[in-house]
This record gives sequence, C-alpha cells and structure tokens, in this order.
Amino acid sequence: MNNIVLPAPVRTGGMPIMDAFSKRATQRNYDPTKEIDLQTLSNLLWSAWGFNRADRRTAPTSHNRQEVDLYVSLRSGTYLYDAAANTLVMINGDDLRMASAMQDYVADAPVNLIIVSDTTKIIGKTPQGVTEAIYANAGFISENIYMFCAAFGLGSVTRALVPKEELAKKMNLRSSQVITLVHTVGYTLD
Ligand SMILES: Cc1cc2nc3c(=O)[nH]c(=O)nc-3n(C[C@H](O)[C@H](O)[C@H](O)COP(=O)(O)O)c2cc1C
Repeated sequence: MNNIVLPAPVRTGGMPIMDAFSKRATQRNYDPTKEIDLQTLSNLLWSAWGFNRADRRTAPTSHNRQEVDLYVSLRSGTYLYDAAANTLVMINGDDLRMASAMQDYVADAPVNLIIVSDTTKIIGKTPQGVTEAIYANAGFISENIYMFCAAFGLGSVTRALVPKEELAKKMNLRSSQVITLVHTVGYTLD
C-alpha cells in the first residue's frame, strides 16, 4: 500500500471571499488531460476538512462530533485523508472514480472526494436526528470545497446521485459508515 504524504497546506492567501462567492458554481465539463498537483490537493483537503485549530476543523459539526471521514478517489487508488498527519492513507489501489458515478462527466475529473459519516460517533440523537446531523455536516464540507475551487480556478460539483451501497462495498466501509455526498473536482475545459 502506497500512502501519499502531502505537502503542508498553504493556509493563507487566495481570492477575496466576496469574489469567490461571485464565482462559486457547479461545473460538469472537466478537462481529462489536466491533473491536480499535490500542493493544490493538500490545500483543497485542508480547506474541506483540515484542522484550523489544535483539535477543530475548517467545517463545523453538530456537537463537535467530527464524525466525518473524507475519502479521496484518484486514478491511483482510494485513500483516507488523515488531516492530522496530512497524509492520504491508501485504502485500496482501485480507481473507484466511476464507481461513485451515475453521470458520464465524472470520468473526466481527476479527483472525487467521498464524504462519509461514522454514525457511531453521533451520540444521544434519534435516528432522524443522526440523519439530519450527518447531512448538514457534509453540506458544510461540500461548500468549503466549492469555495476553495471557486477561489483557485478549479471546477467542482457536489453529487448525491451516487450508487452508495455498491460504492460502500468497494470501499470496504463498515456498516455504521454512511456515504453522504461525493464532490467531484477538476480543471474545466473553459
Ligand atoms: C445536495 C445536492 C446534491 C446534488 N447532486 C448532484 C448530482 O448528483 N449530480 C449533479 O450533476 N449535480 C448535483 N448537484 C448540483 C446541483 O445540480 C447544482 O448545485 C444546482 O443545479 C445549482 O447550480 P449551482 O451549484 O451552479 O448554483 C447537487 C447539489 C446539491 C446541493
């Protein structure tokens, strides 16, 4: 198994936030010839779900449960983002990008971020409360991804249209882990 040690994320700079809001949009026309370099991937992952304080993240979670595992699906395999170690821990060497897709455009994008929640980490809620929490929490991460992409000239789309059961099997997820959203990222043809 080949883990990927990411370069330290650059935590400053970028576009003024109002300009980034002006550019935030869903894109579905990816350039299949353009990869995302590791520095940009590191910055993207940190923006999505990194630690911006000793033990807290760039995205909020209900009761600070931090129940999300962020998986990264690349051509070279499927990885778990270890934010503390700034490392992609290889889960398997399979290219599962299209295994998360029900739409053809996904094939052209180099990166899919699979947002997964471990429901055992959410305590004291009804089943409906658990569902509400995990989807709300995933939404914040997804918006972080949209905003990073808007600011740094990447295209992205959040996707609920995902064959979740089949993908969970291919990722060997535990039964307590729920795939909420998959966020596709890449450079666009425009
Ligand atoms: C919860 C959610 C699920 C979505 N699922 C998909 C999807 O499966 N496939 C897709 O192409 N777009 C998906 N989208 C993107 C929406 O179609 C898109 O955000 C909407 O058309 C508005 O466009 P905009 O993001 O450019 O403002 C989803 C968006 C959200 C918020």
